[in-house]
Amino acid sequence: MTVYKGEVFNLPPDKSISHRAALIGALAEGTTEITNFSGGFDNQSTLGVLQACGIRLSQDIVQGADGRRTRHVVLRSRGLWSFSAPDAPLMCNNSGSTMRMVAGILAGQPFDSTLVGDSSLMKRPMKRVADPLLLMGAGVALSPAGTAPVCISGTRDLKPVTYELPVPSAQVKSLVALAALHADGESRVIETLPSRNHTELMLDLKTEKLPDGRSAVIIPGRKSLAARPFHVPGDPSAACFIISLGLLVPGSEILLRDVCLNPTRTGYIDLLTGAGADIRFENSRVIGGETIGDILVRYSGSIEPLRIDDPSIVANTIDEIPMLAVLSACATAEFELHHAAELRTKESDRISAVVSNLERLGFLCEEFPDGFAVKGRQQVPAGAVAIESYDDHRIAMSFAIAGKAMDRELDLSDREVIGVSFPNFFDIIDMLRQ
Ligand code: S3P
Repeated sequence: MTVYKGEVFNLPPDKSISHRAALIGALAEGTTEITNFSGGFDNQSTLGVLQACGIRLSQDIVQGADGRRTRHVVLRSRGLWSFSAPDAPLMCNNSGSTMRMVAGILAGQPFDSTLVGDSSLMKRPMKRVADPLLLMGAGVALSPAGTAPVCISGTRDLKPVTYELPVPSAQVKSLVALAALHADGESRVIETLPSRNHTELMLDLKTEKLPDGRSAVIIPGRKSLAARPFHVPGDPSAACFIISLGLLVPGSEILLRDVCLNPTRTGYIDLLTGAGADIRFENSRVIGGETIGDILVRYSGSIEPLRIDDPSIVANTIDEIPMLAVLSACATAEFELHHAAELRTKESDRISAVVSNLERLGFLCEEFPDGFAVKGRQQVPAGAVAIESYDDHRIAMSFAIAGKAMDRELDLSDREVIGVSFPNFFDIIDMLRQ
C-alpha cells in the first residue's frame, strides 16, 4: 500500500502575498525586492499586467546555499502614479485577484484602461469592484451582466471613502485600500467578518475595532510608500491539499516547511484538528509581519465528519472548502456546508462542481442554494472515473487527492489548470510517495 512520507521544502509561494508584494512594489518609491515569488500562472498574470502599464520589473531564478531554486522579482517604481496608459486591454487570464486589485490602482491613474480575462474570469461578478470606485469618483463601466470587461476612467482626484464591504472579500478590501492610497484624505474599509489581512500587514495599515464588533481598516491618502523587501512564505491554501493527502492515506507523515501561518488563513486547520486530525505547528516565527512555520501532519485514524455552518468560518476557509468537503466525504461519507453562496462565484461554481464530481464517485449529495450535504456512498463500477475540473485549479487538485486516497484511477480533465496556483503539485506528491 502506498504511503506518503517526507519533508516538503518547495510548497508554492503564497498566491495572495505574491500578488500584493508585486502591486505594492509597483506603488512604492524605489526598488522592491521580492524573494520566493510564486511561479503560478495567476501571479505571473499580475506581473504581465504591471509590465503592460509601464512598470519596470525583472524576474530571476536564484539558487540558494542549500541548493533550492526560488524566484526573485525586482520592481522599480517612482511611486503612486508611476503607471502609464496601456495600449491594449490588460489580460488577467484566470486571476480574479489580479483583475480586482489592479482595478483599485487604475482608478487612481489619470487615463482610461480596460481589464479582461479568460472565459471563467469574464463570468465572475465585478459590480463589487465598480461600486466603491464609483463612490470615489472614478468612472467604471461593466458588461450588462455586471462582469468584465472592466473599463476604468481613472482620475488623479480620487475622493476618500468610508466603505462597508457588502460581501466578506479580501480582494475588495484590498482594491479599496489600493485606490484609497491615491485619494485626497483618509479612507476606511469596514468589514463585518474578518478576511485575510495581508494588505493591512504589508502596508502597515491601522485597524480599529468598532463598538458593534466590526473592524475598520484606516488608509491614509497620498502618503508616499518607501520601497521595502518582501519575502513570500509557502501557501497555506496549497498546503491544504498535501495535508489532506496525509490525513487520508494510512501511515502517512508529512512535514511542510516555511508555510504562512497567518490565522486569517489557517481556519481550516482549526476545523480539522477539532475533528480529530493530528496536525501540529512547529518552529513558528514572524517575518515581515507574517507568521511563518512548519506544519507536521500525521495520518490520524478516523476523523469526525466536517460541518461548516458559521459564516465567519466560511469566510476564513473559503479557498479550502472544496478540499475539506472531498476529505470529509472520503474519510466519513458525510459533510455539510451552509452560508457559502459565495463559492458559486469563484473560478467555477464550486458548489455544483464538487457535488457533480462527488456523485461520479458514488457519494449521495444534496445541493442547497448556499451549500450542500454528503449523506453516504454507493459502490461505483471498477475502472477509471471521469472527473471534470471545470477549468478550476482547486477542483482539479481536490479530486486528484481523492483519487490518491481511494487508490482509484481518475480521468481528470484539463489537469494543466493546476498550474494557476500549484505548478509542482504532482512532483511533490511523487516525491512523497513511498
Ligand atoms: C483572495 C481572496 C479570496 C480568495 C482568493 C484570493 C485574496 O477571494 O478566494 O483566492 O488574495 O485576497 P474573495 O476576496 O473574493 O473572497
